[in-house]
Amino acid sequence: MPERETWTSRIGFIFAAVGSAVGLGNIWSFPFQTGANGGAAFLVVYLLAVLLIGFPTMLGEFVIGRESKRNPVGAFAELGHGNWSAAGGLGVVTTVVTLAFYSVVGGWVLSYIVGSATGAYFGDAGAFFGSVSAGQTAVLTHAAFMAITIGVVAAGIEEGIERATKFMIPAIIVLLVALGIWGSTLDGAAAGYEYYLSPDFGVLASNFASIVPSAVGQAFFTLSLGFSVMVVYASYLGSDDSLPADGGAIVVINTLVALLAGFVVFPLLFSIGAEPGTGGVGAAFVGLASAFGEIPGGEIIGVLFFVVLLFAALSSSISLLETPTSYIVETYDFDRRRVAIALGAGIFAFGVPTALNTNTLGWYNDVVFNLLLPIVVLLFAIFVGWVNADDSYAEVGRGSSLGDTFSTVWLWWVRIVIPVAVIFTLVLGVQDLLIKGGVLDAAIILG
Ligand code: TRP
Repeated sequence: MPERETWTSRIGFIFAAVGSAVGLGNIWSFPFQTGANGGAAFLVVYLLAVLLIGFPTMLGEFVIGRESKRNPVGAFAELGHGNWSAAGGLGVVTTVVTLAFYSVVGGWVLSYIVGSATGAYFGDAGAFFGSVSAGQTAVLTHAAFMAITIGVVAAGIEEGIERATKFMIPAIIVLLVALGIWGSTLDGAAAGYEYYLSPDFGVLASNFASIVPSAVGQAFFTLSLGFSVMVVYASYLGSDDSLPADGGAIVVINTLVALLAGFVVFPLLFSIGAEPGTGGVGAAFVGLASAFGEIPGGEIIGVLFFVVLLFAALSSSISLLETPTSYIVETYDFDRRRVAIALGAGIFAFGVPTALNTNTLGWYNDVVFNLLLPIVVLLFAIFVGWVNADDSYAEVGRGSSLGDTFSTVWLWWVRIVIPVAVIFTLVLGVQDLLIKGGVLDAAIILG
């Protein structure tokens, strides 16, 4: 077995995990999910979902990773429950499917950086989206984005991943703060903040059944849970690190970045009178691009915004490729560089259909969001809470100063609360998938 790399510092781990967590999910999906679900009402539920469901689940993935010091498939065998490896394997599959379309959206971002600088979308934002989101351009930018991702992962944990994320994460935060301050000067700022920050509990009450699963799903996705990624990252940790402290830092930073993105996006949308949260996968791109096209200095602001989005997308795609790479490198003792290239190329090919048709992309996205992700989280929760209970209990407290009460509450939370929340999400998610897939078309009353 090859010698295992470890993080050079606790900060290196936190940055890499934050890099994985902070992504298109924070800056692209979060504001638009908030928009689609009634604004501030969604925000409240989302924050609760992150805290009550996301954080304990993250500790669960950390426990498996650090206790086993293995990749997600090997981890279960190492812990003495080999047949559970399928759960780890499914996490790796989810990662591969996600990277396939994530890289296509990363490619769109590349096009938008160029388009902002040249003003290419200023005339007709919708037409620009159409021309770069599907077809030849999309395949090319998908290839370019994947090539950058492969380059970083091939360079390894220390030289590649730690280095890249240590630069990109601070850059994202600084630029978002600057954009947020600039956003406060826009005409639409007051209306945007109002929509974003003052919850209408009537909206919440009447849409509870759809808001809760969206919020829980978004909480998992944005924290990169249900993909085995946090298992892999925690497997490089030493046993004197506090899992709750590190997890807490990661959750807080990730949430701040999403909140900041809202402070940029809502003033922008309201300043041009756009309706937040309408239209499918392209809404963010078309809505924001229209705003950049109308606002003085839109070229510069547009470039900055899409550079932030690119860094966020890259720091996540790196982590998406690292998971299957580390699995293969460890299992078969292959050369990391070759594995990263071969896997990246394969996942690129698997993503090509989504670069040719945005509906296919939406479909990959829905399968991940509504089906694969909750199933993996559910399996992990059962494993951590029931199958591996004694070890999980010991591992979560190792290196932490929080004491036994915390560990006990956490264990019962993972045993009961998380599975119930996930099953709820899963049922509604699968229903949604069947409806979108046309299977339940006949049952739709409101066309
Ligand atoms: N958290 C990332 C985002 O918000 C997306 C993501 C989900 C991810 N699962 C992942 C990234 C696994 C890396 C690894 O955009």
